[in-house]
Order: sequence, then structure tokens, then C-alpha cells
Amino acid sequence: MKNYRDYYFRKAKAEHYPARSVYKLMEMDKALRLLTPGGRVLDLGATPGSWSLYAAQQVGPQGRVVALDCVPTETVFPPQVQFLVADMLHPSAEAIAVLEAHAPFSVVLSDMAPKTTGSRITDQARSLALVEAAYGVAMRWLAAGGHFVAKIFEGPDAPAFVRGIKPFFERVTLMKPKSSRSESKEIFIVGLSLRTRDPRYRIPEDEENYGRT
Ligand SMILES: C[S@@+](CC[C@H](N)C(=O)[O-])C[C@H]1O[C@@H](n2cnc3c(N)ncnc32)[C@H](O)[C@@H]1O
Repeated sequence: MKNYRDYYFRKAKAEHYPARSVYKLMEMDKALRLLTPGGRVLDLGATPGSWSLYAAQQVGPQGRVVALDCVPTETVFPPQVQFLVADMLHPSAEAIAVLEAHAPFSVVLSDMAPKTTGSRITDQARSLALVEAAYGVAMRWLAAGGHFVAKIFEGPDAPAFVRGIKPFFERVTLMKPKSSRSESKEIFIVGLSLRTRDPRYRIPEDEENYGRT
């Protein structure tokens, strides 16, 4: 049996993060400088809250982190974090209003992951649906020059998704952080510096905002 109380699990506990996944974001942030003081971050799939805690430290008290998950968390966040319970596949009008109120975001993060079923094809398809939902949100509310980071389960549709988003960012890269378990099929798609919005995700009521980024 695999020992899941590994190095990163113990490190997270010692450093008071509720999940070991924080080290994935930390590594990507250190390599790519995603989170800056005063930044506005949207963290999708935030429960139990380690990415939001780390993002809050990086943006500082002048920044803002909107954390969202379909499952609540008991983690206590600093005041610059607002936590919202919402399902990103079926966002309520209230959730959309909160996002709208805090937009534009300098960074949209998604660590959303489906409950795994044991069927690789089903899990990959559900993961892709979550990435597409996160990308749709980014295309609506990411600021010009902002960054997009999303977890995806590797599978046959992932390369086409990555190719599809390349024209809209200065650079698109894939990352597999060291703290991601080697047996895990997850990778992170990173879109750096939004250049222009993807017209496939254009929303008619936002029409007048297009070009304004
Ligand atoms: C790996 S966990 C996130 C861990 C988090 N980044 C942290 O560091 O504490 C994945 C999260 O995605 C959430 N999730 C899955 N589907 C979702 C959906 N449709 N809408 C919102 N959150 C979702 C799950 O509830 C779960 O909490």
C-alpha cells in the first residue's frame, strides 16, 4: 500500500496548510511569478483552501482572493479572501454576480478535479469539462495580461485543448510540479499574459466589453 503521509503531506501540516497541493502552486508561482502584491485572484476548486491561503499571502492585504468550491471548508482565511460555495458547471446567478463584482482578475486558478470513478475515460472527460468551465470564466473575467492556470487529467483531448488556447496568451506551457504524485495523471496548463479573448467563449451580453479586455 502506498504511503500517502509523504514528505509534502507532513510539510503542509508543519506549515499549517490544509492540503499538500499548496506546493504545486508554490512551485509554479516561483517558476513563473504568477502572484504579485495587490493582485486579484480567482481560485476555482478551492476547498480545503491551501491555494487560497498561499495566494492571499502573495497578494497581501491590498489584494483579493475569491475562492470558490462546490464543497465548503472550515479553513479560516485572512480578510482578503472571500469564500463562495458554487458549482462551476452550473453557477448560480449569485455566484456570477460575485465574480462580476470582483473582476477583472489578474490570475484565474483552477485546481478543480472530478471525483474519480476508476474509469480513465470518464475521469478525463469530466476533468476536461471542468477545465473548459474554468477557461470560460477566464475568458470572461481575466484582465488583459492576466494569467490562467488549470489542472487537467492527461488524455487524448488535452493536447487539442492546449492548442486551442495558445493564440490567446503570450505563452502557454504545461507543468508537472515535483509535488504532484508521479502516478497521478494530472498536469497543469498555464496561459501567461492574456493577449486577447477567445471568441469561442464570447457571451452576447458582454459584447460591448470585448476589446476592452
Ligand atoms: C484537489 S481539490 C482542490 C485543493 C485546493 N486547491 C487546495 O489547495 O486546498 C479539488 C476541488 O475541486 C472541487 N470541484 C470539483 N468539481 C467542482 C465544480 N463543478 N465546481 C466547483 N468546485 C469543484 C472539489 O470539490 C475539490 O474541493
